[in-house]
Amino acid sequence: MSLFNVYPLFDIKPIRANGMYVYDENDTEYLDLYGGHAVISIGHTHPKYVKAISNQVSKLGFYSNAIQNPLQEKLAERLEELSGCKDYQLFLCNSGAEANENALKLASFHNGKHKILAFKNSFHGRTSAAVVATDDPKIVAPLNAQQEVDFVELGDLDSVETILKNNQTCAVIVECIQGVGGLDQSTPEFYQGLESLCKTHNTILIADEVQSGFGRTGDFFAFQKHQITPDIISIAKGMGNGFPIGGILIHPDIKPSFGLLGTTFGGNHLACAASLTVLEVIEEEKLMNNASEMADYFIQKAEDLPNLKSIKGRGLMIGLEFDFPVAELRKKLIYKHKIFTGSAKNPNLIRILPPLTIQKKHIDAFFDALKSEL
Ligand SMILES: Cc1ncc(COP(=O)(O)O)c(C=O)c1O
Repeated sequence: MSLFNVYPLFDIKPIRANGMYVYDENDTEYLDLYGGHAVISIGHTHPKYVKAISNQVSKLGFYSNAIQNPLQEKLAERLEELSGCKDYQLFLCNSGAEANENALKLASFHNGKHKILAFKNSFHGRTSAAVVATDDPKIVAPLNAQQEVDFVELGDLDSVETILKNNQTCAVIVECIQGVGGLDQSTPEFYQGLESLCKTHNTILIADEVQSGFGRTGDFFAFQKHQITPDIISIAKGMGNGFPIGGILIHPDIKPSFGLLGTTFGGNHLACAASLTVLEVIEEEKLMNNASEMADYFIQKAEDLPNLKSIKGRGLMIGLEFDFPVAELRKKLIYKHKIFTGSAKNPNLIRILPPLTIQKKHIDAFFDALKSEL
């Protein structure tokens, strides 16, 4: 059987990893500034993580959501403590798209409306409603296209108001820093205005923190910089450091009922053990502080780069926008300098999504390589 060929692949076969590095079958070392797409948060094969998962799988790896699972409760408690998001309710699933799918569905259950408002250049995943809220017609199948979505420019509050006034929009979904779209963000006034319009028009505000959450920006969530209180917060990627887990934090005003949402694998024992360890390490190793400090250092190093148009993003969700397309440069970084980086919809942007454990020496290595190619 062949693989369904949907991924253009780099010709590299990692077989093991440690901290900031991955190694191929010849033991060649690659510096991972991509984190497997913002997934590796506490570093590859962190000893505490390996131990916690190994212990858990030797006791109980999985049971369905038909029984008591104290690990889910512990995860909800620890998430509340570390994020500072008080009194939210936690629903666990398996991926970012699934988190957004549940968020959108729950919004529609809650207020009985059916349309979605999303932003231009957004990415929210590939499932039924998440994919129509994604601004990329290429990945929307006719089946999905039946759902109704309005796309608005990020920052355009007037258009948001005009649409919400029609009283058909169940949810506004927003990435406070757009990931795949190219690290654009708007102002605190915009996000606060969005929150207030959603309240006025009985519309659920969903903060998609799938990529930006779990400490990546230096705050636990990217929206916290803007002092807003979303109704639903979706999480995944960094949450499990590679173990598939996602979830939504749900405001106490939204009430549950039996059977409203559900999943077989979501919130299983192994996934909870992985995520609990991620939270423990983020706290113990002060990784949110490290994310802020390393981002400042990165910006400082970037200032004298030739051909640089702008530095985009925040924390360790940061990018360099050049005045030329970066595909060839990224290839040189990976094949010649052995450094993984990320791309974006914007062809001139190199994205950096490293583990939150990154140190100055890794940033220095990246800039030395970059300068030698510019
Ligand atoms: C902001 C955002 N939301 C949702 C998703 C979808 O997550 P997943 O690929 O886990 O379904 C992504 C993935 O890149 C993302 O960046």
